[in-house]
Amino acid sequence: MTAQMLDIRIQPPPGGEVLYASGQVTVIWGDCRDPQVIAQVPREYGLLATDPPYGIGYRSNWSKQFDQLEGDDGTVDWPAVLGEWVGPDGTRSIGMADKRHVMVFGYDAEALSKPLRLSATTELIWDKVIPGSGDVSSAWATSHEPITFGVHFKRPSDRKDGRGALTARLRRGSVIRWPRPSGVLRHPTEKPWQVMAQLIESSTVLGDLVVDPCAGSGSTGVAAILTGRRCFLVEYKREFAELTVERLRAAERIVARMQAV
Ligand SMILES: C[S@@+](CC[C@H](N)C(=O)[O-])C[C@H]1O[C@@H](n2cnc3c(N)ncnc32)[C@H](O)[C@@H]1O
Repeated sequence: MTAQMLDIRIQPPPGGEVLYASGQVTVIWGDCRDPQVIAQVPREYGLLATDPPYGIGYRSNWSKQFDQLEGDDGTVDWPAVLGEWVGPDGTRSIGMADKRHVMVFGYDAEALSKPLRLSATTELIWDKVIPGSGDVSSAWATSHEPITFGVHFKRPSDRKDGRGALTARLRRGSVIRWPRPSGVLRHPTEKPWQVMAQLIESSTVLGDLVVDPCAGSGSTGVAAILTGRRCFLVEYKREFAELTVERLRAAERIVARMQAV
């Protein structure tokens, strides 16, 4: 009988537990708010691409088969947590490298700009093509999610005028159209890896390190590996962290087979 069947909450240990590490991938079962976990984030990484809990506790019919997501009850200041991940104010070499990009699902530029020290923000839209059943009391069935893009500046003076902002490698429209995952649900808010790949490819180069503190089912990591980048992932819930490892191993096997071509 598993802890899940007995409905026992398994907490990650302080500092987390590395469930998988290869040359390209690190997956930690841990709490991304834990300073001991944050201390393990590699310095001067290349991209923060993440989808933290939205803090609204709302569950669509689609996701009711899962428990409410951890940290989704509105008690966690997620922009402040992500601020720790890009590196606290006054630090230069901790966290994300200077003038690199941030992409955060579900939070707007107003909430994110100050704690993450962003400039040149833009709202991107993931068009999910198929509307969800969602909140049926609304006249509109939601079929999109907002993603905030921004450039992280270590120096306030650079931030003020957006000086030195890296341009995206591929300049394209701000709507990314790709159907939501269908079939057997593995995670209530799984993002298609293809959407994450589009984001990652436009803001990084081969070999860059992509970081996601709220990995969920691991789609950010899968996209990073399939596009020749590296990833550093943290997930709180043990079963999702294990799913992330399983998917990352599969992605690495695909890349290994492609190298043999
Ligand atoms: C919106 S989901 C991410 C979904 C993911 N983008 C995907 O494609 O599967 C947010 C995730 O953050 C995790 N989470 C919540 N609190 C956390 C914490 N303190 N540390 C790490 N992960 C956390 C939840 O368990 C959930 O899986």
